[in-house]
Amino acid sequence: MKKLLILAMLGFAHCCIAQHQLYIPDTLSGTTFDITVHRDSVQLKPGKFTQTFGINANAYLGPTLLLKKGDSISLNVHNQMGDTTTMHWHGLHVAPKNDGGPFNMIMPGMSWNPMFVVRNNAASYWYHPHMMGKTAEQAIKGDAGFIIVRDNAEAALTLPRTYGVDDIPVIVQSFELDTNNQFMPKGMVDSIVLVNGTDSPYVNMPAQVVRMRLLNASGERTFNFGFTANRSFKIIASDNGLLQAPVNTTRISIAPGERYEILLDLTGLNGQTLYLMSYASELPMGVQGGPTMPMPPGSPPMNSPLNGIDFNILQINVTAPTASPVTTIPSALAVDTPLTESLLHTNRSINMTADSMMVMDGPFYFNHNLFDMMRIDYRIPVNNVEVWTLLDSTMVAHPFHLHDVHFYILDRNGNPPPLYERGRKDVLMIEPNETVRFIAQFTDFADTSTPYMYHCHILMHEDDGMMGQFIVTPGSPISVATIDNSRD
Ligand code: C2O
Ligand code: CU
Ligand code: CU
Repeated sequence: MKKLLILAMLGFAHCCIAQHQLYIPDTLSGTTFDITVHRDSVQLKPGKFTQTFGINANAYLGPTLLLKKGDSISLNVHNQMGDTTTMHWHGLHVAPKNDGGPFNMIMPGMSWNPMFVVRNNAASYWYHPHMMGKTAEQAIKGDAGFIIVRDNAEAALTLPRTYGVDDIPVIVQSFELDTNNQFMPKGMVDSIVLVNGTDSPYVNMPAQVVRMRLLNASGERTFNFGFTANRSFKIIASDNGLLQAPVNTTRISIAPGERYEILLDLTGLNGQTLYLMSYASELPMGVQGGPTMPMPPGSPPMNSPLNGIDFNILQINVTAPTASPVTTIPSALAVDTPLTESLLHTNRSINMTADSMMVMDGPFYFNHNLFDMMRIDYRIPVNNVEVWTLLDSTMVAHPFHLHDVHFYILDRNGNPPPLYERGRKDVLMIEPNETVRFIAQFTDFADTSTPYMYHCHILMHEDDGMMGQFIVTPGSPISVATIDNSRD
C-alpha cells in the first residue's frame, strides 16, 4: 500500500512498473449475444473505488464479440445501468434501426434486440453507447467492448489468430480521475492509462509473429504508438478491413475511435522484455521548443503530464513460442478495390468551426451548426457514391467518424494519404488547417425511419454537439450532381 501511495504521488511513475497481468476480455460467439450493462466499481487508485459501468461478469468493459461475416445474429442488450442508454456497433454496416445511435434508446430496465446479418470484412470493431449528451460519461465508465469480425478471406491467410495467445486485443484508454477517484467525462488530463481496463499492465507473448489489435477508446487523447528501441512492426488492417499488403513502420498514430491491427515479430526474443509505448509526437504547445500554432498532432489533452514525453503503455514479456507459431508474414493481404472518383455522384463539404479561433475545448460545429436531433443534415439516395471534403478551421485536431459505411481517404491537402490510410476506414484524424477528402458509397439500407450519425470521436466534442445526421433514401443515386452543403 505504501508503495502504491508513493507511486500515486509521483503520478505517472507507475507507468513504468508493470504490476498487473493484462486482462484479456472473455469472448462471446455464436449467433445470439446477451449483453447486460450494469453499475459496478473497481479500485484503480488507493482509496475510493471508481464507479463504473460493467458488462455481464465484468466490472469494467465488456466481453469481446466474435462475429463471422455472413452470419445472421441477434443481440440482446439489457439496460441495468439505471439510466437511459443506447448501444452502437461502431464500424458495422447495419440498418439504421440496428445502429444504436441516439434514436435507438433503451430505457432503464428495458432490453433492445437488434438483429442483422454481419456484412463487414474481417477486422476489429467495437461497441459503446451513443446516448445524446452522455456518450462520454457512459463509455469511459466502462460501457464498451471489442468486436472481432472473421471471414473466409482472412482465414485463408497465415496470420496469428489464437485469441489471447498470439492475437491480442489492446484497448487503450486515457482518463482523468477527480480527487475522489471518479471518472471525469470532460476531463482533459491523463490521470491514468488503462489497457483492457488494466492499470500498469504486462502481457506474456510468445517468441513468434504476434498480432495486436489496437483500439484507442479514450475520450480525447491520441496515441503515437511504437515499441522500445524503435522496433519496426507491420500494419495489416485499418478500421474496416485488411490492407492490401502489410505496411512496415515504427510508429502508428491512433486517434479516438480508430483501430489498427499490427504484426510484431518476436522470433528469437524469448526471455526479453519490451514495451508498447506512446511516443511524444511533438512538444506541447506553449512549452519552449514546442509549437505555438497549430496544436500538436492529435491535440492531446491540455495540461497533461503525458504531453511531450514518451511513456510505456504495455510491458511485453516474451515467452517460449507456441507449438505452431506463425513465422512468416504474408506479402499480400486483402483484395480490395478502393472507390474512385470516376464513380462520383455527389460532393459534400464540411467545415469544422468554433466561435473563435482561440477556442480549445469547444463547442465545435459542422458548418456552424450544432447537432440537432430534429434536423436531417443530408438525404442520401441509396447506393450514392459521395466525396466528402472536410476542412478543419479550428485550433485542434478532430477524429471524424462516419456511421453506416466505410470510406477511403482520397487525399490530405491534395496529397495521397500514407499507405496505411489507403484501406477501409471509418474514422479519420484531421489536423488544424487541413483539408481531407474521402469517398464512400451508401449501400444497402434505404430506411428513412432513423438517421445515421457522423461526428467527432472526441467524446466531449460529440456530446457538445459536434455531430450531424443523414438518412439514406430509396431511389436512384443522384446522377452527377454537386451539392455543396457548407453554409459558411
Ligand atoms: Cu464510435 Cu458514433 O461512434
Ligand atoms: Cu460508429
Ligand atoms: Cu472534435
